[in-house]
Amino acid sequence: MIKKLFHREQELHQFNNLLTNVLDSLSSILITVDNEMRVQLWNREAIFFFQKNREQVSRHVLNECISPFYIETDKIKSAIDKKQIQTINNYPYEKDNKCLLFDVVISPLSFGSAKGAIIRIDDVTTKTLVEETMVQAEKIMSMGVLAAGMAHEISNPLSGMMLNANVINNRLTNTQMPANTCVAEEIGISMYAIKSFMEKRGIMGMLKTINALGSRMAENVNNMLSFARKSEGDSSFHTFEEIFEKTLELAATDFDSKKHYDFKKIKIKKVYEDIPPVPCEKAKIQQVLLNILLNGAQAMQEAKIKNPQFIIRTGFEKNRKTVCMEIEDNGPGMNEETRKQIFEPFFTTKPLGIGTGLGLSVSYFIITKNHGGEISVASSPGKGATFYIRLPSEAMN
Ligand SMILES: Nc1ncnc2c1ncn2[C@@H]1O[C@H](COP(=O)(O)OP(=O)(O)OP(=O)(O)O)[C@@H](O)[C@H]1O
Ligand SMILES: [Mg+2]
Repeated sequence: MIKKLFHREQELHQFNNLLTNVLDSLSSILITVDNEMRVQLWNREAIFFFQKNREQVSRHVLNECISPFYIETDKIKSAIDKKQIQTINNYPYEKDNKCLLFDVVISPLSFGSAKGAIIRIDDVTTKTLVEETMVQAEKIMSMGVLAAGMAHEISNPLSGMMLNANVINNRLTNTQMPANTCVAEEIGISMYAIKSFMEKRGIMGMLKTINALGSRMAENVNNMLSFARKSEGDSSFHTFEEIFEKTLELAATDFDSKKHYDFKKIKIKKVYEDIPPVPCEKAKIQQVLLNILLNGAQAMQEAKIKNPQFIIRTGFEKNRKTVCMEIEDNGPGMNEETRKQIFEPFFTTKPLGIGTGLGLSVSYFIITKNHGGEISVASSPGKGATFYIRLPSEAMN
C-alpha cells in the first residue's frame, strides 16, 4: 500500500515536471488564474517578460503582477462564467521605449469544482507590421495598375492636342513657310497682319500656356505610366555613394532654379560605409533619391527648421546580400496616418498644383518592382523622417 502511494506520488511529481517543462518551452507568455484572479501558473516567458519569478507572483492578484500591462478583469470573468474564449487583439504596450503590440487570449479552465482561466499573451508586433506592409503594398500595386491604365487613355489624346497646338502656332506665326504665305495671299491678307493680330489678342500667349500645361500633364502621365512599365533592363553596376553624389549636384541646380528652397543652406552629413556596387538603372535610382531630397527640403523649409540637415548612411547586410541607404532629415516628420499612406499614388498633403502625390509612389515602384528592393519610412511628428532603401547586391534573374 505504502509502495503504491509512493509510486503514485512519484508519478504525480513526474507529471508536474512535465507540465512545467511543456509550459516553459512555449514561446508565448502563459499564466493561469483562479476564480479570484490570483496567479497559479506562471511560465518561463512570463518570468522573463514581467521580470518576476514564480514565488513573487504565486497567489497574487494578476494585474498587480503584470502591471503596467493590464487585462480587464471583466474579460477574464466573462471567459470563466460564460465558458467562452475572450480575445484582445493588438494591445499596445510600451517596453524599453518601443511600442509593441500583443494578442491576449483568455480561455476558461475548470478543474473539478474549481474554475479559472488560462491566459496566453503573444508579441505580434512584427506579424502585424508585416501584414500591414503587405496590405499596403497590395493597395499601392492595384492603385498603380489603375493609374497606369488611366494614363494610357490620356496619353494619346494629350499627344494629339499638343501636336495640334504646335501646328497652330506654326501656321499662325511662321511668315516664311510657303504653305502659310500662299493661303494668306489667296485670301488677300499678309502673314504679318495675322501674326500681329494673334499677338495683340494674346493668342500666342494662350498657345504657350497650352503647351506648358500640356508638358506638365505629360510629365505626370509619364510618371503614372511608369507604374506599369517593366524595367528597361539597361542596368549596370553603381555604388550608392556615386549615385547620391550625382543626385546632390542635380538637386543643387534644380532647387536653385525653382527658387522654392535654397538647397545649399541644408547641411549634408554623410556616413558612408565601404559597400559593393549594385546592379541598377542609375537614372531611376537618382530619380528616387531626388524625390526624397526634394520632399525633405520642402518639409524642412515649410516648417522653418533653423538648422536643416540630411544625414545619409550606407551599409551592407552581408547575409541578405543587400545594400542599404538611409536618408534622414530633421524636418517636421509626419503622423502615423500620413506615414502609412505616403507611398500611395496621388497621396499628398500639399496644396493643389504644388504636389501631385506621385513622387514617392513612382519611387516605390522603381525600388520594389524594377529593382526587387525595399523602401520604407520611419517618422513621427517633430522627429524628422528617415527613408530606408534596400537593393539586392546581385542581379535579379
Ligand atoms: N521628409 C518628409 N517629411 C515630411 N513629410 C513628408 C516627407 N516626405 C514626404 N512627405 C509627405 O508625403 C507626401 C507624399 O510625398 P510625394 O513625394 O509622393 O508627393 P508630393 O511631394 O506631395 O507631390 P510630388 O512629389 O508629386 O510633387 C507629401 O505630400 C508629404 O506630406
Ligand atoms: Mg514629392
